[in-house]
Amino acid sequence: MIDTGDFGIHDGISEVIFTTLSKDGEPNAAPMGLHRKEGRLFAMIYYSRTLENILDRPVAVANIVDEPVLFVRSSLCDLEPERFEYVNGFPVMKDALGWILFDCKCKKGERISLVELSPVDGKINRRKIQPVNRGFNAVIEAAIHATRYVVFREKKHIDSIEHYNTIVKKCGGEREKEAMVMLYKLIGITK
Ligand SMILES: Cc1cc2nc3c(=O)[nH]c(=O)nc-3n(C[C@H](O)[C@H](O)[C@H](O)COP(=O)(O)O)c2cc1C
Repeated sequence: MIDTGDFGIHDGISEVIFTTLSKDGEPNAAPMGLHRKEGRLFAMIYYSRTLENILDRPVAVANIVDEPVLFVRSSLCDLEPERFEYVNGFPVMKDALGWILFDCKCKKGERISLVELSPVDGKINRRKIQPVNRGFNAVIEAAIHATRYVVFREKKHIDSIEHYNTIVKKCGGEREKEAMVMLYKLIGITK
């Protein structure tokens, strides 16, 4: 029996990276919010390869990741194949602090689908004391705006990314600064 609390997944929304497998056996990774509310676990997923894969094969892994570059890359482009390892044929991320494998039940919506998640397996690879870093959190916020910018091309998202970039410059370390350089490159903005 998997207790997601042991993995640091508590009430509210935890930002994780979902890995899924396509019909053709291609691994995919994308950041998603993992919701926990009154004992229920679910994700709210817009049309994406993640959703397509879950509709084909109702399984997903939530990878608990603390690497800002991985959030940026997996939200805006494909991860390199060497970033994955396979557990019983299913992709998980090599650098995850831990992962949880879920059976999924999908209630498909017009714009967004509700995916109910039942944990079936999991592994903790590393435990880490991690003080809050505003730079890391700012990369996550900027990545969310970047995924919206590539779809809607609205200037308000660029303004938000700029705002979060000032926080990264002030509070982030090398990993966060590298993630922002990559983010700008992937959305086609030269700084
Ligand atoms: C931190 C973070 C959280 C995200 N959470 C969600 C989410 O809960 N649902 C969703 O549909 N997209 C979410 N996204 C956007 C997807 O990751 C993004 O659209 C991605 O390109 C989908 O990739 P895919 O087509 O490979 O599945 C999130 C992005 C970030 C950076």
